[in-house]
Amino acid sequence: MSTIQLDEHKVDCQHGESVLDALLREDIDIPHACREGVCQSCMMRSLDGAPPAAAQKGLKDVLKHQNHFLACLCYPETDLKVSLDSPEDFYTEASVIGKKLLNPETLLLTLHCQQPLDFYAGQFVNLKRDDGLTRSYSIANNRIHSQTLIFHIRRLSGGRFSEWAHRELNIGDKLHVSDPQGFCYYLPNHPEQNLLLIGTGSGLAPLAGIISEALHHSHGGEIHLFHGSRELDGLYWIEEMQQLTQQYSNFHYTACLSQGDAPEGFASGRANDLAMRTLQNLKGWRVYLCGHPDMVNQSKRQAYLQGANLQDIYADAFHVASSTLA
Ligand SMILES: Cc1cc2nc3c(=O)[nH]c(=O)nc-3n(C[C@H](O)[C@H](O)[C@H](O)COP(=O)(O)OP(=O)(O)OC[C@H]3O[C@@H](n4cnc5c(N)ncnc54)[C@H](O)[C@@H]3O)c2cc1C
Ligand code: FES
Repeated sequence: MSTIQLDEHKVDCQHGESVLDALLREDIDIPHACREGVCQSCMMRSLDGAPPAAAQKGLKDVLKHQNHFLACLCYPETDLKVSLDSPEDFYTEASVIGKKLLNPETLLLTLHCQQPLDFYAGQFVNLKRDDGLTRSYSIANNRIHSQTLIFHIRRLSGGRFSEWAHRELNIGDKLHVSDPQGFCYYLPNHPEQNLLLIGTGSGLAPLAGIISEALHHSHGGEIHLFHGSRELDGLYWIEEMQQLTQQYSNFHYTACLSQGDAPEGFASGRANDLAMRTLQNLKGWRVYLCGHPDMVNQSKRQAYLQGANLQDIYADAFHVASSTLA
């Protein structure tokens, strides 16, 4: 067992318990979202020298040197004095300038940031409310508009952030936006490479940003998008994607429904299964996967088995914080 000291609080951290879980257990409010080391919203700083290396996974070098670490990945073996960084260190303020429904469960939210954000299409940011509640959302636009950010927010029943964003967030309200993060992004370095993009539900958000960016850069390779949902209600931007197929001969779109009979123009089955069946040889392809963690993990493995190079598989799983301590 070790002791964590945060300001005036001293908390015992049991063997096998993360710093985040120990602090939350004592009702100390620490920003967090994924609990998987993905969103970086639980970042803290060790005031006792270097934290465990495993707790710095994915952090930029400068942050590592400053002894920052992710509380959800930190299992200390010795006592640790820590501090929370103030939101202003990593966040810029943004105002809501647009809000409309894409389908009954998905909100299109547009923010205007005070500062331009240097992101790559497909990355995500953490959105933080004034009370500290933080969740990760993927940017759905390309990087041409670096001060405007578009998000697709799916409402989860009882979800603290998503329900609030759907019901209570209004035009003119302010949110805090983190630095961009994530490994699912487009770089125009290999314009001839074929692209396969698979997303479920609001997993279309980062893929839409990537497609827009790739087409803006006149990407020459084939671009195949498979967007899936259980039912028709869960899909959106169908006409917009169909229009892109008319405009760009290298863009192909398959809308997939995994439950019931698919109406004409839709494919029946799970998006990842249909994609892997349609494009059996992925050697030399770049593959983008976004959405439900199970789909992302399964498809990563399958894409590799079908020839895709591991370095060419870009994925961000939409981990949802567990309800137990959230
Ligand atoms: C890298 C990354 C990118 C993300 N990008 C997006 C995005 O672009 N759009 C988006 O909508 N979300 C995205 N998410 C998920 C998002 O961060 C939130 O986790 C999600 O909106 C839920 O937050 P909440 O506060 O509303 O729910 P919480 O208050 O955190 O509660 C979630 C509750 O829902 C339950 N739950 C889990 N999965 C489901 C499910 N499939 N259906 C119903 N209930 C469920 C959980 O058990 C839990 O009780 C992303 C996540 C990550 C890690
Ligand atoms: S990285 Fe720790 S909660 Fe997401």
